Amino acid sequence: MQVFVDLDIVAEDVEKFFGSVKVLNRISLKIRKGEFYTILGPNGAGKTTLIKLLATLSRATSGRVVVANHDVMKEPDKVRAKIGFVSHDPYLYGDLSALENIEFFATLYGVPKARDRAVEVISQVGLQNRMYDLVRTFSRGMQQRLAVARAIVHDPLILLLDEPYTGLDQHGIRVLGDMLRWLKSQGRTIVLTTHNLAEVFDVSDRVSILSNGKIVYEGFSREVDISRFKKIYFDSVGT
Ligand SMILES: Nc1ncnc2c1ncn2[C@@H]1O[C@H](COP(=O)(O)OP(=O)(O)OP(=O)(O)O)[C@@H](O)[C@H]1O
Ligand SMILES: [Mg+2]
Repeated sequence: MQVFVDLDIVAEDVEKFFGSVKVLNRISLKIRKGEFYTILGPNGAGKTTLIKLLATLSRATSGRVVVANHDVMKEPDKVRAKIGFVSHDPYLYGDLSALENIEFFATLYGVPKARDRAVEVISQVGLQNRMYDLVRTFSRGMQQRLAVARAIVHDPLILLLDEPYTGLDQHGIRVLGDMLRWLKSQGRTIVLTTHNLAEVFDVSDRVSILSNGKIVYEGFSREVDISRFKKIYFDSVGT
């Protein structure tokens, strides 16, 4: 297979149909190692569908997706070992404590000293005081933070985050922002979807706009300021 030296994520002419409805329309992406790539788009644009393909949780109808030099269709396990995924579904067990949850996932990923590592990431997301509480007693924002802890417990090179700011309070927004900056400073590749560019513009290297299943714009944040991006967004999406 072709080796991508500088690229962590490559999508080539990806299409996704649900029944006869085309939801992703010939998407091509090249995301560099260590890049922070933000995808904007209105409801129903296809953001979750796209990020799920990258996360091996869904299959493209046609085209190819390569993550960390592994084809997501052919080597999903190898891809999963390299990625952390944060989505609307926190993938947590309500009847286990926060610590039991994260320790479970750490063990699943073969992380050495699973319990110590679980305590470490729970502290990093600011939940150390609630570590022994059952997850079903957590607020949505707390579950979201714990989902971030789960996503990073195996020290993944690549983080995929689908609207991670949803449901977070001001403190949670700051904790997540600091964490994303810290993960980026460690050279990790981050792909994030959002409705709110203001939350992530400063940390993003590149921003793209997905509309009706097509990438209609891609640009570097160092070259275009946020107000220009917002104008491009409204011009291309029309809402
Ligand atoms: N499992 C499914 N079966 C059928 N259609 C689906 C399925 N999942 C998504 N779709 C459709 O695909 C389109 C894109 O949905 P998707 O969830 O990817 O959008 P999104 O950009 O993430 O939107 P939002 O901002 O609301 O999260 C929508 O029209 C949606 O109805
Ligand atoms: Mg979505």
